[in-house]
Amino acid sequence: MTTPTIYRDLLLEHARHPKNSGRIDNPDLQAFAQNPLCGDELELTLALSGEVIQDCKTQVRGCSICQASASMMSELILAKTLKEARQTSHIFTESLRKATSEIPETVESLRPLIDLKTHRSRIKCMKLAWDALEDCAAQHQT
Ligand code: FES
Repeated sequence: MTTPTIYRDLLLEHARHPKNSGRIDNPDLQAFAQNPLCGDELELTLALSGEVIQDCKTQVRGCSICQASASMMSELILAKTLKEARQTSHIFTESLRKATSEIPETVESLRPLIDLKTHRSRIKCMKLAWDALEDCAAQHQT
């Protein structure tokens, strides 16, 4: 199997069987994000233990890339502090912006998404869950 095929299969697996799908009752933090280009939307709910993300769920009404990104994000940020999760989000965003194909170790697991960055119209699909995370982190700071 070629590497692009493995990445595509990984994305499809996350899209078809998303991890941490649903919503937390009485979450500590909650945010909604919408892609203005297509109208798709997503809700992120987080449960905290102190600063640590103890539980994370996403409810997605969106495309496969959006769903896969939300699923991968949920796996990556669980058990991280909000600050660490936000740093991860910034590194992911930077990796999408940079022309280089180098990917920092922190977001290596997101390579199947990052490799799609040349499809600029799909960046918002990849970013929707992370935008909701940024919103949750900003709420926590205020
Ligand atoms: Fe709507 Fe991807 S096409 S989020």
